[in-house]
Amino acid sequence: MSQTVSNERFRKRFTTFNEIGATDRDGVNRPSLSGANQEARDTLVEWFEKATLDVTIDEMGNIFGRRAGADNALDPVLIGSHIDSQYNGGRYDGVVGVLGALEVVETLNDEDIQTERPIEVVAWSNEEGVRFQPDMLGSGVFAGEFDLEYAYARTDKEGKTFGEELERIGYKGDESCEPRDLHCYFELHVEQGPQLSERGRSVGVVEGVYGFVWMNAAFIGSADHAGPTPMHLRHDALVATSDVIESVRRITGTGGDDLVGTVGSIDVHPNSINVIPERVDFTVDFRSYDNDVVDHATEQIQREIEHAANRESVEMEYEEIMRVDAEPFDDGCIETVEQAANAVGAEYMRIVSGAGHDANYLNEICPTSMIFVPSVDGISHTEDEYTEWEDVIRGADVLLHVVLEKANMGEVEQ
Ligand code: GLV
Ligand code: MN
Ligand code: MN
Repeated sequence: MSQTVSNERFRKRFTTFNEIGATDRDGVNRPSLSGANQEARDTLVEWFEKATLDVTIDEMGNIFGRRAGADNALDPVLIGSHIDSQYNGGRYDGVVGVLGALEVVETLNDEDIQTERPIEVVAWSNEEGVRFQPDMLGSGVFAGEFDLEYAYARTDKEGKTFGEELERIGYKGDESCEPRDLHCYFELHVEQGPQLSERGRSVGVVEGVYGFVWMNAAFIGSADHAGPTPMHLRHDALVATSDVIESVRRITGTGGDDLVGTVGSIDVHPNSINVIPERVDFTVDFRSYDNDVVDHATEQIQREIEHAANRESVEMEYEEIMRVDAEPFDDGCIETVEQAANAVGAEYMRIVSGAGHDANYLNEICPTSMIFVPSVDGISHTEDEYTEWEDVIRGADVLLHVVLEKANMGEVEQ
């Protein structure tokens, strides 16, 4: 197979798309269901229609564009990713996978290639989980992991619900959001870590994604004057939190080779220079490819939270808000990606993803794998995120080969 995607069209679209919500430091600010996210969705739908895709929006605002196959009774090949971003995030995370998938179908259109199976391009809602937790909410409902009502009731920091905001931006669609028969799912994405660049490889054949747990926790102490209050009379919620932050770091040092842990968000109340912190809300994120390692770290940090509360004589709250188990991707799909990487002449390696992806949930309902392209210096979730354009193109070419292979397999449904 000699087809390749159009460098020029893809690059132009990537640039135009990332003008939406652009920050002045070369990043994008398009959090889920924001005005910029709405504009990005509108642009995508326009491009889907231009590519003669049949567009449907489901109840979660997931956007699908379907290209008919020779036999439309066959289950479709689904490809895509997400277009919501972190607050002041990077331009590549998610966008490469959605626009790369669109570019694949545009290339098939250019070449007049009729595939056996239908192909669907998807942009999942709320992958990032920064405005509404948990993350991967659109694909999670689609895969039957969360109820629709649970998803609609998620609130942002201002108390706005996902359901209201989805309606406000006009993307609460009619199509039901529930598992349906799919032949397979593939997601092209930037690696977001340093493995490919450190090993000098241009493609990662993704075998699976780390399991992870997200927790919300809080300490509730007493506010008081920072001057006259003697140290032994204090119940400082921030001191307890700092003990937990240190524990997270210590646990990752002993918990397993690939265990990572982060306290990424802290809200201090009243957050004043001369008031003892009364309340701190914070998060904990643990990840590993070994589910037992994540379990163990989670149990340890629960104990550490209790100990920190006792030491500082403060109240504590603790809630696990997300747990995704590591589950290897489908062997056949991994092999297809590997063959496609070979076919485009890429230097590739097999890789496990430290970042979460919609593919986690799709993997629960259909054969799945991913294609990674290198992140320069492994940087992601910041405006400095960068991938060499030739690597993006190579990744899209791999996806094109994967799709041609999978969409032309007319064999018995899974
Ligand atoms: C999703 O972006 C994640 O947290 O891995
Ligand atoms: Mn992503
Ligand atoms: Mn992300």
